Amino acid sequence: MKILVLNGPNLNLLGKREPEIYGNQSFEDYFETLQTQFPKLDLEYYQSNHEGLLLDKLHEVGFDYDGIVLNGGAYTHTSIAIADAIGAITTPVIEVHISNVHARETFRHHSYFSSKCIGVIVGLGLDGYRLAIEHFLKESK
Ligand code: DQA
Repeated sequence: MKILVLNGPNLNLLGKREPEIYGNQSFEDYFETLQTQFPKLDLEYYQSNHEGLLLDKLHEVGFDYDGIVLNGGAYTHTSIAIADAIGAITTPVIEVHISNVHARETFRHHSYFSSKCIGVIVGLGLDGYRLAIEHFLKESK
């Protein structure tokens, strides 16, 4: 089973960026934990700060992989192009946000992605990624 974890802009700074909101752990460290939690899964991680590169990655894997866990960062609130790509591909996508976007600024309350995703996990910290993967696993059985 192949699953892509796809992170958007500024998520390369996890561990350094506003730790009171996003925590102290880098995503690379957390991804190692994920890999040990799911040893049988073919887990891939990709991060980009560039909208077009995120689109290219969705197009590349989105007709072959079994699931995509997407934290689009701020593009969540701005990118119709990424929303269109989620709608265009056949691989199911789960939207994840580390922070509770609904408890933050109002511009974070709207997501262009949510209606195109099979589900949304918000505000559970990095654990949201694990929960999304658990869901894909459960659905495949
Ligand atoms: C975020 C929430 C977004 O509003 C923000 O722009 C991010 C991170 C989260 O994981 O909580 O970059 O997606």
